[in-house]
Amino acid sequence: MMHIPVLVDKVLEILAPKEGGVYVDATLGGGGHSLALLERIGENGKVIGLDKDGATIAIAKKRLPSGMEIYREDFVNMKDVVKNEKVDGIIFDLGLSSFQLEDRNRGFSYTLDGPLDMRIDTNLTTKASDSLNRLSEEEIADIFKKFGEERNARKIAKLLDERKKKKPILTTGELVSIIKRVTPRRRHRKTLARIFQSLRIYVNDELNTLEKGLKEAVEILKVEGRLCVISYHSLEDRIVKNFFRELDGKKLRILTPKPLRPTRDEIERNRRSRSAKLRGAERL
Ligand SMILES: C[S@@+](CC[C@H](N)C(=O)[O-])C[C@H]1O[C@@H](n2cnc3c(N)ncnc32)[C@H](O)[C@@H]1O
Repeated sequence: MMHIPVLVDKVLEILAPKEGGVYVDATLGGGGHSLALLERIGENGKVIGLDKDGATIAIAKKRLPSGMEIYREDFVNMKDVVKNEKVDGIIFDLGLSSFQLEDRNRGFSYTLDGPLDMRIDTNLTTKASDSLNRLSEEEIADIFKKFGEERNARKIAKLLDERKKKKPILTTGELVSIIKRVTPRRRHRKTLARIFQSLRIYVNDELNTLEKGLKEAVEILKVEGRLCVISYHSLEDRIVKNFFRELDGKKLRILTPKPLRPTRDEIERNRRSRSAKLRGAERL
């Protein structure tokens, strides 16, 4: 399984890592960004890595130097993790790694049949299938609309509701086949992507978590410390953009008037990067 970190050169450009600096990788994943930072900061520097997915932590520990500080923790708790130390830079690379996307047992991908789980933190008690089978038709339609911007939300929610009254929906494959029944073939991929995205955001409360995480990050940055966020869909990017704008000239100085995007070359090498947008800011 290949996992290539996204926009590494641009992350380094924004964070401008210093020898001996202290950095937080808020979304460790396969550790690609951490490794790039470690190379720059020398032996006296430190990268503190966080990921809330236990399986990912196990992979990261194998790939990263044994002395690195690695925590299974949600990035909303980063202030506690760094024990009130101030840091020189923080990277958020949101969403999922290829390890998670390509593991059919996690239920994140509409191209792989498996349990409809979608929990990033497997200690959570509620899986996507639990919510889907428990919530009302209206609540489900709202999730599809709000977190997937899906225009066919009502129609899909209605069919799901009819179907789950006969038998609970437990697998990604079942969900995919129901969505396909009410979606024109030319829109299959986009609709599936939107519905899967919306459920994932709901299950992991991703938008609230992002806002809280960004607030924490600003609190632990040193003056002139740098913050760098890579997002993968417009709802996330909007939160980052608005957060930066609100604090611009107060606690932050925006370094990227427009988000930075991967080159065509990078997208060819790594399809996961195609929707990536990077925004950076400096702590005032
Ligand atoms: C795109 S991947 C990161 C890839 C990483 N930058 C690399 O180079 O390999 C995103 C990671 O963030 C983790 N994650 C998502 N939300 C999180 C949160 N709220 N707290 C901690 N980790 C989170 C996921 O488990 C996933 O491993």
